[in-house]
Amino acid sequence: MVPPRRPWLDELRSHYSLIELASQRLDTKLVFGMRDDPEAQAQHEVVFEPDRDGNLIAFGASGTGKTTLLRTIAVASGFSDKGGPSMVYALDFAGRGLEVLEQLPNVGSVIDAADDERIRRLVKELRELVDRRAADFARCEADTIVHYRERANEPDEPRVLVLIDGLGNFASEYDAPGRYEVWDRLAWVAANGRAVGVHLVATADRVNSVGPLSPQLVPRPARLPIGLRSGLLSAGHEH
Ligand SMILES: Nc1ncnc2c1ncn2[C@@H]1O[C@H](COP(=O)(O)OP(=O)(O)OP(=O)(O)O)[C@@H](O)[C@H]1O
Ligand SMILES: [Mg+2]
Repeated sequence: MVPPRRPWLDELRSHYSLIELASQRLDTKLVFGMRDDPEAQAQHEVVFEPDRDGNLIAFGASGTGKTTLLRTIAVASGFSDKGGPSMVYALDFAGRGLEVLEQLPNVGSVIDAADDERIRRLVKELRELVDRRAADFARCEADTIVHYRERANEPDEPRVLVLIDGLGNFASEYDAPGRYEVWDRLAWVAANGRAVGVHLVATADRVNSVGPLSPQLVPRPARLPIGLRSGLLSAGHEH
């Protein structure tokens, strides 16, 4: 007997396996969630495409899944063996939720908000990296890291993902008299990083808490819905 056609898809599950979702295993498409589209009776993967999107900023109140999103991106970027490698740096301005990432092989460092010296050094190095790559990429007429890997025959050149949990707190710390240098360098990286494979993935509670990091730098902000439990996926950890 043929079972009757089910009129509705199941609700989204509370957890998905990233290995299952990110089956393309590409660093150009980092899956971080599942989206329900009930009107079309469809469910889609939610994907950050760094070469297209540049940066990603997720806004949401407490408990909406901001830290989980960053962890998920970090994990997803670790299995992209059909694309190229990614290197993750994390700045933790929201309660040490990124510390756990230190164990991952593709995570370079996780820096705590209090560690001013390392933050300064990292942001300076990122700015220098973007400059250096801009020159190298121009030499082989590459306008994304994918082109560069091909044209320069450097398949292992890593995409760089800079995670910042609590960009509002970062801004209050560094968008401040006597400290603008750090903020300016970061804003410059955000504005010029896309074409050279350097991307910011950040979270904040409200849009206006990130002040002068102007919206043009971040063409695709994502607002995490209230009641997100049904909306996005978590990175394989449970509380
Ligand atoms: N996409 C998701 N699907 C289901 N549960 C989720 C999802 N994202 C996060 N959660 C769960 O929701 C809770 C809050 O998530 P998380 O800590 O990431 O939120 P947050 O926005 O960082 O909160 P805070 O602002 O307080 O730091 C956690 O228990 C987490 O496991
Ligand atoms: Mg958090």
